[in-house]
Amino acid sequence: MNIAKHIAIIMDGNGRWAEARGEKRVKGHEVGADVVRDITTYCSNHPQIERLTLYAFSTENWKRPRLEVEFLMKLLDRYLKNELPKYLENNVRFEPIGDLSAFSASLQKTIQHVVDKTAHCNGLVQSLALNYGAQDELVRAINKIKRTSETITPETLSNALDCKQDVDLLIRTGGDKRLSNFLLWQAAYAELCFVDTLWPDFTPNELEGIIANFSKIERRFGGLK
Ligand code: FPP
Repeated sequence: MNIAKHIAIIMDGNGRWAEARGEKRVKGHEVGADVVRDITTYCSNHPQIERLTLYAFSTENWKRPRLEVEFLMKLLDRYLKNELPKYLENNVRFEPIGDLSAFSASLQKTIQHVVDKTAHCNGLVQSLALNYGAQDELVRAINKIKRTSETITPETLSNALDCKQDVDLLIRTGGDKRLSNFLLWQAAYAELCFVDTLWPDFTPNELEGIIANFSKIERRFGGLK
């Protein structure tokens, strides 16, 4: 039976969810943040899941209207501040990935505070991808390695990436079937699951069904049965 140790999710469909209800797009992000909490809690209650990586803000998302970007920054700040007790209660370690240097000093401070306060937690790792793009991550990693005279191997490259654990199961909500620059190296052998459900409607129950299907799939990693 396959174990989904590392689950990665592209949380898409917030804007469409809100627009379908005659609401502003940002309402979808707000409800989406509640779903982040529910899915994280579900994963933290399943010890076989070691890591949950969620695509919260991509390197391309800066191109969105200024007000939407500002809303997402405030929402993230508020989420992290409000959720800290829950991270601790559920023994969840927070490990962001991405280039955090682009964020405001105060948001970076909030992020670092939650990283520090949860550093001792040894249950689920919740990794939010923030100002993250897989191409940017690879370029930063290669530039890091370049400073040493080491020959680059898959291991040295993997160790220089923000996210060092291969993805077992990659889910995208919202109906589109693309990876959008998410964990391109780490998802080399991931099972891909695309669902039409918009992120604000995604539930722990649906995730449970996806994990149950994943557990039955035969994974060969390029070899034979
Ligand atoms: C994609 O939906 C979603 C995002 C760009 C941001 C993801 C953010 C959240 C789920 C909420 C905030 C998260 C945290 C951790 C506080 P979209 O707006 O592209 O949807 P659309 O495809 O329907 O337009």
